[in-house]
Amino acid sequence: MTSNRKIMVMPGDGIGPEVMKETLRLIDWLAKYKKLNFNTIEKDVGGKSFDLHGTPLTDEALSDALECDAVLFGAVGGPKYDDLPFEQKPERGLLTLRKELDLFANLRPAIVFPPLVEASTLKPEIVRGLDIMILRELTGGVYFAEPRGIDVLPDGTKKGYDTNLYTTLEIERIGRVAFDLARKRNGKLTSVEKANVMFSGVLWREVITDLHKNEGAGIELQHMFADNCAMQLVRAPKQFDVIVCDNLFGDMLSDCAAMLTGSLGMLPSASLGSPNKDGIRKAMYEPVHGSAPDITGKGVANPLAQVLSFTMMLRYSFGHSDEADLIELAVSDALSSGARTPDLGGGSKSVSTAQMMDLVINSMDQKAR
Ligand code: IPM
Ligand code: MG
Repeated sequence: MTSNRKIMVMPGDGIGPEVMKETLRLIDWLAKYKKLNFNTIEKDVGGKSFDLHGTPLTDEALSDALECDAVLFGAVGGPKYDDLPFEQKPERGLLTLRKELDLFANLRPAIVFPPLVEASTLKPEIVRGLDIMILRELTGGVYFAEPRGIDVLPDGTKKGYDTNLYTTLEIERIGRVAFDLARKRNGKLTSVEKANVMFSGVLWREVITDLHKNEGAGIELQHMFADNCAMQLVRAPKQFDVIVCDNLFGDMLSDCAAMLTGSLGMLPSASLGSPNKDGIRKAMYEPVHGSAPDITGKGVANPLAQVLSFTMMLRYSFGHSDEADLIELAVSDALSSGARTPDLGGGSKSVSTAQMMDLVINSMDQKAR
């Protein structure tokens, strides 16, 4: 059956293909049991693309991604590529996609599944019931702003530099998404910067404060310095609901938040662009974990961050929240059975990537009957 829902699948490097393969079983399942059909096309990205095509993202892969309704992304990078020139590094493939699709809003939900309370390195009472959303600005700041580079100084030594730059409009558009999210959740927003040290932080605070006055009715806003936020995330994470921050702080704080949930292998993400005239946003969905070269090829990677990225896609790009709920319940069932991939530890049964997915699919089968 044909479908007008087109998904670009980009498994990438390391454990990316392993967790992607398992996640794609969900597409077959949805076609079979829910008559929900997706057209998929698959393209190389990252190191794999460099090996085969000499670039981390071909023009063709980029233009195909621009044509699709959503991109489902795995992971990129690996030690093999460490010495490549900057522009050819696997990560450039990912960053080019984010920039060219203009995916400025990156949603990283950190949710503690009840069976995983014990898997966190933090005390159970600190993380039990945790449900926070980190909203990371994704197309600006130090990741992209000019000037940046490594220059040779007159004495022959070098200087390396980057620029952290945000404009009023960039801060406003991520701020609007933040207020929207807070409104749909518990009405509480924490805006994070370092206005005590950085000019971009001073402007960030100013713009978010103005936006709050003009468009933030009913939202409780607090400002917090990024270093304090990192500390508060491990001290008392449940004080937060939505956290909004720039690209670099969001990168760091989301890794930190991931460990609250038990493992980096549990955190999905959605990267969204602005709505077009029909209200449709470009979007890419990817797990927060990387390519994990240390466990690549062993069949033990946790597929759940990729699975949960897929459920975010069902929700945000395709409006299929019932199916997303069903898969998330099945994930919870799989974890409740005591099954754990090695990154999670604990539990009563150590399982492989495929076995974890078998449990998810079995639970879905039972629910579909
Ligand atoms: C992430 C990753 C990426 C980033 C890397 C792979 C470029 O760490 O999505 O958090 O720094 O944004
Ligand atoms: Mg990161």
